[in-house]
Amino acid sequence: MIRVYTCLFFVTFSCAVVASPPVGETFGHLKSGEEASIYTLTSEAGLMVRVTDFGATLVELYAPDASGTIDDVVLGFDDVSGYESEDNQYFGCTTGRVCNRIANARFTLNGKEYKLAANDGVNHLHGGATRSLDKVLWKAEPFETDTQQGVAFSYSSPDGEEGYPGNLIIRTTYSLMRQTNELQIDYLATTDVPTPVNLTNHAYFNLSGAGSETVLEHVLQLNADRYTPSDDTLIPTGEIAPVADTPLDFREPHVIGDRIQELVDTAALGYDHNFVLNEPAGDSSIRLAAVLTDPRSGRRLTIRTSQPAIQLYSGNFLKGQKGKGERSYPLRSALCLETQFSPDSVNQPKFPSIVLKPDQEWRAHTMLTFSAVPR
Ligand code: GAL
Repeated sequence: MIRVYTCLFFVTFSCAVVASPPVGETFGHLKSGEEASIYTLTSEAGLMVRVTDFGATLVELYAPDASGTIDDVVLGFDDVSGYESEDNQYFGCTTGRVCNRIANARFTLNGKEYKLAANDGVNHLHGGATRSLDKVLWKAEPFETDTQQGVAFSYSSPDGEEGYPGNLIIRTTYSLMRQTNELQIDYLATTDVPTPVNLTNHAYFNLSGAGSETVLEHVLQLNADRYTPSDDTLIPTGEIAPVADTPLDFREPHVIGDRIQELVDTAALGYDHNFVLNEPAGDSSIRLAAVLTDPRSGRRLTIRTSQPAIQLYSGNFLKGQKGKGERSYPLRSALCLETQFSPDSVNQPKFPSIVLKPDQEWRAHTMLTFSAVPR
């Protein structure tokens, strides 16, 4: 399968980029019988991206290495049945309505308590058990401009879905830049009653190519002086602590495997921590979040975002499941860098609020830029 897409990529580029919006192709059928679609975005600069309307999910992301060879650097499945299976651990999806954890699967808003699905022990994880954003079919609107090719996915989550108040209209837009190796992900949400919102993308990256053994040799730098310590169930204690003198100090570039061992016997099982990003420079609303480099291929991913925090998750629950092209995904064979608001913000008075009101728009912007450094 992977080889087929590689050929497709080269054919597309040898004929120059087609100047029309991406067209949906079948991505298989859901258990409900509905058909999922997949869209291919291409850039003149060298990236190729495929996204599906199931979960507004990033399925493939081909990026060039130091010698120009492209490989798919995100985990995923060949068709939608994989995404509906037990093997899917939120691969590449839009995660929400509220990503990460909500303590004891409940929160109180304007004096009323709301109960959510407890799908991670006693806590609520990634928007719920059955109708979270990764498990539903979104409406796709492919588009094309002079500078970008993309797909805007939208989904209307009805009042009470997964226990959340309000009719929430959500849009996730993937835009691939034509001339630069950059994929932008934009989120927009509106509601008719106050409700918490925290959206992220849950891509698992391995810059050596999805299905390579581990990411322990990847080098990571995070623009974060502080993190949110958490309890035994990964719920923040409310404290915001310095990363200095901990294995979470990525202020200078560090090899992931260097200090992960110190965390293996903790509740996190490795890296599974939320970092509070340093403020953006000057008047900009966009801040540098992370720079991830794979010394083996030379591929480098730089993440910038409007979001205030980022979850580093080192694939601690990956179990060797088979993914795209029959490649398997063992423990720590990929990592996630989830730009977000801090976990459990809805119950944490000291964290920035994630409550969206009817007269507001919830917007977030994350840019993934790929480059290659000499090996
Ligand atoms: C991450 C989370 C992990 C785990 C994973 C999905 O975002 O931090 O604890 O739940 O998603 O397997």
